Amino acid sequence: MNLTIIHEFMIRHLQNDATGHDVLHIDRVEKIAERIARAEGIDEYGLQIIRAAVYLHDVIDEKVTHSVEQTIDDVRHVLKSAEAHDEEIEIIMDIILNMSYSKNIEQKKTLTHLGQIVQDADRIDALGAIGIARTFYYAGSKGSAIYDATPPIPADELTESKYRQNTSAINHFYEKLLLLKDTMNTVTGKKLADERTELMKHFLTSFDAEISGEC
Ligand code: ADP
Ligand code: NI
Repeated sequence: MNLTIIHEFMIRHLQNDATGHDVLHIDRVEKIAERIARAEGIDEYGLQIIRAAVYLHDVIDEKVTHSVEQTIDDVRHVLKSAEAHDEEIEIIMDIILNMSYSKNIEQKKTLTHLGQIVQDADRIDALGAIGIARTFYYAGSKGSAIYDATPPIPADELTESKYRQNTSAINHFYEKLLLLKDTMNTVTGKKLADERTELMKHFLTSFDAEISGEC
């Protein structure tokens, strides 16, 4: 499989993104996925599948493309032109079509071991200092508030369509980001998620104190 062709395809699709699903997000997720994969004993063949899925996972996202169906066809086409075998294409498509948070809200999808690693890596990049930065950047790009008087939607009342409604950046922490650590698939992913969640909790504590005038 020619990963360079897939990487170049990804750059063409994400180079103008201004929602935090950009090329630098892909670079970070690739590094995290590689780290988790090594700890999980994944071989070079598995790592190739992981890299391809990391490159392609946000290209087909409705936040990034106007036509999800067309882009799915384009992704299959680029994988063929990169000489991926049919079974490799199916493994990669299965990962990128089923890994997202929004698609797992109402019914949890079963992922392969390689898919679980890509999902953990993508979720780690939503947490910690970079996760805080991405959340405010995303909210700004959508015209959402930093915070408002609307209470966050409790986890058991969240649906895919409610998740997509423009919630404030601060509510996004309670509706998604603080819950991610309990969805990790791998030991390494869980450890990184726990550390990054602690940092976000400190941030939210200071944030609440500041906006309520306590400090
Ligand atoms: P997934 O692709 O797993 O469904 P998203 O693409 O919705 O996840 O989220 C990726 C990142 O984009 C989030 O971790 C967050 O930083 C940002 N984001 C998504 N939705 C919101 C939102 N409503 N408010 C603020 N940030 C958001
Ligand atoms: Ni992503």
